[in-house]
Amino acid sequence: MPESRFTLDDRLPAGYFTDSLHSDVRKGLTDPPRSLPPKWFYDKRGSDLFEEITRLPEYYPTRAEQEILTRRAPEIAAVTRPSTLIELGSGSSRKTRTLLDALTAGGSLVRYAPLDVSAAALAEAGEAICRDYPGLTVSATVADFEGGLPLSDEPGPRLLAFLGSTIGNFDAAQRRAFYRTLALSLSSDDVLLLGADLVKDPDVLVRAYDDSRGVTADFNKNVLHVLNRELGADFDPGAFDHVALWNADEERVEMRLRSRTAQTVKIPDLDLSLDLAAGEDLRTELSCKFRRESLTAELHEGGFTVRQWWTDQDDRFALLLVVPN
Ligand code: SAH
Ligand code: AVI
Repeated sequence: MPESRFTLDDRLPAGYFTDSLHSDVRKGLTDPPRSLPPKWFYDKRGSDLFEEITRLPEYYPTRAEQEILTRRAPEIAAVTRPSTLIELGSGSSRKTRTLLDALTAGGSLVRYAPLDVSAAALAEAGEAICRDYPGLTVSATVADFEGGLPLSDEPGPRLLAFLGSTIGNFDAAQRRAFYRTLALSLSSDDVLLLGADLVKDPDVLVRAYDDSRGVTADFNKNVLHVLNRELGADFDPGAFDHVALWNADEERVEMRLRSRTAQTVKIPDLDLSLDLAAGEDLRTELSCKFRRESLTAELHEGGFTVRQWWTDQDDRFALLLVVPN
């Protein structure tokens, strides 16, 4: 392994896992309606389960986005000609390889800079990409993209990819804050490549989040294993049902963990005891689905202009090229 071409820089603040996890759990779980931010799914097992989800027949977003990338990567490379490809929430970087192939063929790219909160996912993906793309420097950063973006020393122009519709895991207020952070981080010659899942038949959407093999249920319950391990909690994952529902008013899929019985859960590290009613939900993830007009409008309000809007053949998913105003 040519180690000098691969770096893994941990930019999480000291005490991140204790401070942020403690405050998220205390804030989210103390009183109903109870919720947790989705970033806590992604320990090593959670990242592996997400990868398994992307291969499920019901989970169409990965294949739909891959279809668009395969078709549009040469055009993206020709239009953007970046020196650096930054990727937020890069996970396994599997789809990114389609972009890397086109960008390295185009001759401009010198650096790939994946950023993710999961160090395990970054180490595995970064080393493999370093091996497979001998001309590239791979500078991986462990960071929380909600806490500002540590992007300053990347050579420009930069293409910033945010794929998989991870933007949909933010609610509208979080998206507004995210656009503000992005607008502060990007220069006028940088371009954002954004993946967004689209509103469609609720049955198709719910099946994508409630697959027949139960992989998404395991992914959802993984957050309870994380809380047990990190906080000494005594959640019994078997005492919760995986629930995926379509919230038509908000146009989003919500994942929840529903308590099967009245139960008390202890979280000793927080000195917290939760009395859960039978049928009470912990909301673990929002997955907002988008429409062209409203997504274009909110990006515009956030300081960005949509230059391209590409969809897959079945209009399930959109890939957008977006520039700062
Ligand atoms: N981009 C990949 C992976 C999507 S899964 C794809 O399209 O398939 C979402 C990824 O975002 C995971 O790797 C997870 O670890 C990361 N992630 C989630 N919340 C994050 C946060 N707040 N900061 C940084 N990374 C985050
Ligand atoms: C990462 N994120 C966009 C996925 C989604 O579709 O909201 C996570 C996921 N949750 C359940 N299945 C997949």
